[in-house]
Amino acid sequence: MGKAASTSALALGLWIATGGVSYAATEVFQVEGLVSPASPKALTAALEEKLAVKVAGYRIRDTESGWPEVQVEFEDGALTREEIAAVIDSTEDPTGRTFKVHAGPPVLGVALLAEETAADGMLGDPPGQSPELANPLEATGDSLARGKDLYGGKCAKCHGADGNGTGPSTHGINADPRKLWVWGRAGDAADGYLFWIISNGRTDMPPWGLVLSENERWDLVNYIKTLEPPR
Ligand code: HEC
Repeated sequence: MGKAASTSALALGLWIATGGVSYAATEVFQVEGLVSPASPKALTAALEEKLAVKVAGYRIRDTESGWPEVQVEFEDGALTREEIAAVIDSTEDPTGRTFKVHAGPPVLGVALLAEETAADGMLGDPPGQSPELANPLEATGDSLARGKDLYGGKCAKCHGADGNGTGPSTHGINADPRKLWVWGRAGDAADGYLFWIISNGRTDMPPWGLVLSENERWDLVNYIKTLEPPR
């Protein structure tokens, strides 16, 4: 049993139980492609039909890795982790994509954009076309709490709970959701750019200008600037 299994044991209270049968061995998999409400059902059916396993439950949100997780139980020694992973990797989601066991660090090989690199080392200078907008909301505890709530509800699915750009919905889109923690140490001059892109969107980043109020968008700007690089 690996590290994932012990992590999950700590979080056991959060599993959504789907049955009472108890099997001796447990494996937890981070799964890419659980994108629709029908996805867990499809994966459970495939696993339980093809292998002598019980799918104990899913954790879709708030996992440590940012990826949804499935917990699979089976008779000790009856199966290997690889055999179960092979079934996950060959099962199609109802949306037509194949599930994939997520391995390794999140979003490998995605380079930061020049503007992000700039932002990362930036304590002042905004990226080139930053509109000059002053943030009317101070980053008070209230503003940050509102920003955090909005972020968890609307943004984390793509940008990841930690702002690392690895939310579960990244599986289905083409553009890399940017690592938002690069803005964590940006000065006030970055606020206009952040507000502008949150309002207008870009490629796969949805425009929130018609969805969220101006104050909500400024709350998000304040919150994004508290994100820290993953350790
Ligand atoms: C459907 C997925 C998705 C959702 C939901 C989403 N984003 Fe994005 N976001 C993206 C993508 C993709 C990009 C990169 C777009 C590009 O570079 O063309 C992006 C870019 C950004 C950027 C620019 C970062 C940079 O370094 O230039 C900010 C800021 C941002 N998003 C904030 C948010 C906030 C705040 C929310 C929630 C209100 C949100 N996003 C919701 C996908 C998403």
